[in-house]
Amino acid sequence: MSPFRSVGARLSAALVLVVALALAVVYAIVVPALERNLVAARLDQLESATAVLRPQFPPQDVLVQDFVTFAANQTSARAVFYVPLGEMPTPLTPFADSHGGEAALPATATAVRAAETGLVERGRVEREDVEYAEVATPLEGGVFLLSAPIDQTLANVRQVERRLLVAGALALAVALLLGHGAATVFARRIRRLERAADRIADGRLDEPVGVGGSDEVGQLGAAFERMRRRLAAFEHARREFIANASHELRTPIFSLGGFLELLGDDELDDETRREFLATMQEQIERLTRLASDLLDLSRLDAGQLRLELEPLDLARLAEALRDEFGALALVEERPLDVDAGAEGADALGDELRVLQIGRVLVENALRHTAPGTPVTIRVGRGAGTAMLAVEDAGPGIAAEHREHVFERFYRVDGARASGSGLGLAIARELAEAMDGRIELRSEPGRTSFALVLPEARRERVPATT
Ligand SMILES: Nc1ncnc2c1ncn2[C@@H]1O[C@H](COP(=O)(O)OP(=O)(O)O)[C@@H](O)[C@H]1O
Ligand SMILES: [Mg+2]
Repeated sequence: MSPFRSVGARLSAALVLVVALALAVVYAIVVPALERNLVAARLDQLESATAVLRPQFPPQDVLVQDFVTFAANQTSARAVFYVPLGEMPTPLTPFADSHGGEAALPATATAVRAAETGLVERGRVEREDVEYAEVATPLEGGVFLLSAPIDQTLANVRQVERRLLVAGALALAVALLLGHGAATVFARRIRRLERAADRIADGRLDEPVGVGGSDEVGQLGAAFERMRRRLAAFEHARREFIANASHELRTPIFSLGGFLELLGDDELDDETRREFLATMQEQIERLTRLASDLLDLSRLDAGQLRLELEPLDLARLAEALRDEFGALALVEERPLDVDAGAEGADALGDELRVLQIGRVLVENALRHTAPGTPVTIRVGRGAGTAMLAVEDAGPGIAAEHREHVFERFYRVDGARASGSGLGLAIARELAEAMDGRIELRSEPGRTSFALVLPEARRERVPATT
């Protein structure tokens, strides 16, 4: 793996690059400018000194040699007065030199230029490895030169240069360290995310992701954590569902097995045998219903339920339900009525599924109430909705159970329960699949489960006479 594949290495490299670039720019701009400015300042000094000295030449009562010495003292520069060997501009020769003790300074390039142009000239020259700033001016038949060494100035510049380099090296080291440190922390969080993803992929959903923070990585960690929780909840629901379903299936199957064994007994009288067969028939019916309920739920879960939405006359469906349950209501001794109002209501839904929901609600009203309790199938309309409600005058459902009765396998009264606790769960999911809902209102003496569906627009066919 190339070392620059890791985010950390890239981050460090980028930081170092940026710092190095910034330093190079600063260095390229600052150092030459500083040097230029310092030399120019020295030249300005010499030039203004020249301007002050110029009116004092030629000296009235001292020698030219004294004048240059005086000028040198005033400016801390070497002062030389050159005269031409012939007519100007011709080779110049030193006439008086403030550093007279040494060999006289031959005419410098700056002095020669001043002789040629007749103007004040500035220059930077190098003699015997030392740099000088020079100002030369034509003066009364000769050229006056001030020459100041600038090695001290340049040494200062070099020192600044060295400090910049040292500071730069330090900044680079700090950048490298910081980049590496930040990258290590960053990479650790990313690896933690990666491990969490692997755990989730392996189905180990109990350990939290554990990547916090409010930056992008932290947000990704939070999203992972949400995903883990949802998956864990799904997984929990799935296991619970399978456990419940197996339990529900096992009970009737055990009981059937037991009866089958008893039926094998030759000494069984006909009466008992008939009783056993009737009970077995009941168990088989229960199993069949359970199987079809489970199938419906799995289709709902997989989103494979096919619905054919069409305008439905709910009053007609209410009548159909009453007819279907008329016999059972008689046996169970609960009066069953329909109240469809004057207008009835048209809903948009799938007829078979609406009937299926109606059956769940009517059956519950007949089974989970005491004998003699009146049950009404009511049809009505709301704002843009149509409703099929099943009302009973039973004891009602206590508040703490109301939210749960729609859960799969949830039964309030274990003893009286006839079903498996799937009816209302299926009813609610079917209603939602048709863009509807089931509303539960319950108080002692009045319980109402209402299937609320979108209203179908009525296209009343004018009565033909
Ligand atoms: N009309 C009702 N009156 C009182 N309790 C009800 C009524 N309808 C439903 N319940 C309660 O809600 C529970 C869940 O109903 P359901 O999902 O149809 O399951 P099941 O009928 O198989 O028990 C029932 O066990 C019952 O306790
Ligand atoms: Mg039921």
